[in-house]
Amino acid sequence: MNDFVTIILAAGQGTRMKSDLPKVLHPVAGVPMYAHVVQAALSAGSSKVVLVVGHGREALERDVRERFAVGVETAVQEQQLGTGDAVRAGLSVLPDFAGFVVVLYGDTPLVEETLVKALVASARSSGASAALLTSVVADASGYGRVLRDASGRVVAIREQKDATPEERAVREMNPGIYAFKAPFLRGALAGLSTDNAQGELYLTDVIAEAARINSVASLDWPFEDTQGVNDRAQLAGCEALMRLRIARELARSGVTVRDPATTYIDFGVTVEPDVILEPNVHLRGRTSIARAAHVETGCVLSDVSVGPGAHLKPYTVASDSQIGERAETGPFAHLRPASIMESESKVGNFVEMKKTRLGHGSKASHLSYLGDGQIGRDVNIGAGTIFCNYDGVNKHVTTIEDGAFIGSDSQLIAPVRIGRGAYVGTGSTINLDVPADALALSRTRQVNKEGYAARLRARFKALKEAQKKQP
Ligand code: UD1
Ligand code: CA
Repeated sequence: MNDFVTIILAAGQGTRMKSDLPKVLHPVAGVPMYAHVVQAALSAGSSKVVLVVGHGREALERDVRERFAVGVETAVQEQQLGTGDAVRAGLSVLPDFAGFVVVLYGDTPLVEETLVKALVASARSSGASAALLTSVVADASGYGRVLRDASGRVVAIREQKDATPEERAVREMNPGIYAFKAPFLRGALAGLSTDNAQGELYLTDVIAEAARINSVASLDWPFEDTQGVNDRAQLAGCEALMRLRIARELARSGVTVRDPATTYIDFGVTVEPDVILEPNVHLRGRTSIARAAHVETGCVLSDVSVGPGAHLKPYTVASDSQIGERAETGPFAHLRPASIMESESKVGNFVEMKKTRLGHGSKASHLSYLGDGQIGRDVNIGAGTIFCNYDGVNKHVTTIEDGAFIGSDSQLIAPVRIGRGAYVGTGSTINLDVPADALALSRTRQVNKEGYAARLRARFKALKEAQKKQP
């Protein structure tokens, strides 16, 4: 029953973006605009999606392959002869399809699943050959206008450039989102002509044909959801709306988003109930935040999984990492790729981790670099500890076994292993393995010279006076 396919038009150049990147690859909430549209169609139950590509097609085809494993294919429109021609290109890869064809644009990132479902339902229940969305706006300049007869039936869509002054006064606009019966669409496209102000094959003329032979269903829809992106000002506008939409959905699902306008959550990020997100938090890529975690202001997380009840204090910056259940970070912690913090572990201010596992309950509370480390459970790493992991050519691993204690201001020169329960004395430079339960010290013995400071000071003063007297 739900058999419909979707054709998404994305062959245009997008000149006003002034960009080397094809327009529809510009991201909104971390995902290229076209991918939002594809996702909306797939979520609504589209059995197939055909993306019509032209300008920048190689980059677009590559992105499609990487992002969508099945159900999405591309069709090439060699020359941009108009929206009617673009749909024809899309249909060419669906030769036998007889259900409904939904047409969307690749540059309308705010199109959602609910919109697609409503459109298909309207097409289905009306028995019309075509259904279209429409919006009544204050100023429809630039858009096609929806023309209706005296009884309110849609009879045609008139492009701005072809419209009479009276038609231009119409405030009901065409967002360019339709559902057609496939056999009707094939026939109508074959009959299109370029006899119009722009010399293009207008998809909108198919609507007049549907009205002539049968009828057109129309569905009023908020303009906000169907707006397109032509330049970067509109891109920013869509991004802001998407941001609010994502925050609102999370809030409804039980997440506290303290300030939606300054919380930047990429599309596809998952956040569980009872999480608190403070202002100015960025959650990017495939980040996931588990139940009751608290993410404080200024945190920037890219592809990070945060465990239940974790506490990320302000300005934790992390990428490609895991932060375990009830673990604590920051303020000002930096987790570079492949950092794994197990449950209840802690890194404090000005601690940098990279490709390091910090075991359950282990702590590095202040000013440390932990690179290429394997750290067991309940290890304490004192302030200012450095894992010297790089010899200028190769990276080496520092291993610290369970329950070991690393005194402050120590340097561990990798490859090196600190045994279970061992103790590294403060200020040590360790380049040899330390056996389990041993104490390692590598600093010179302290010497106190009684009264020496006063003598030294007197000597320095005398020296200064002598220098002043010199001519
Ligand atoms: C079109 C509609 C207009 C509607 C407006 C909404 C037509 C004739 N007019 O106008 O009624 O109000 O959209 O934004 O359909 N594209 C191709 N190949 C082409 C031409 C266009 O892939 O040969 C793609 C573009 O990349 C774009 C979309 O189709 O994503 C719309 O094209 P655009 O030129 O912006 O359409 P408009 O003339 O603005
Ligand atoms: Ca347009």
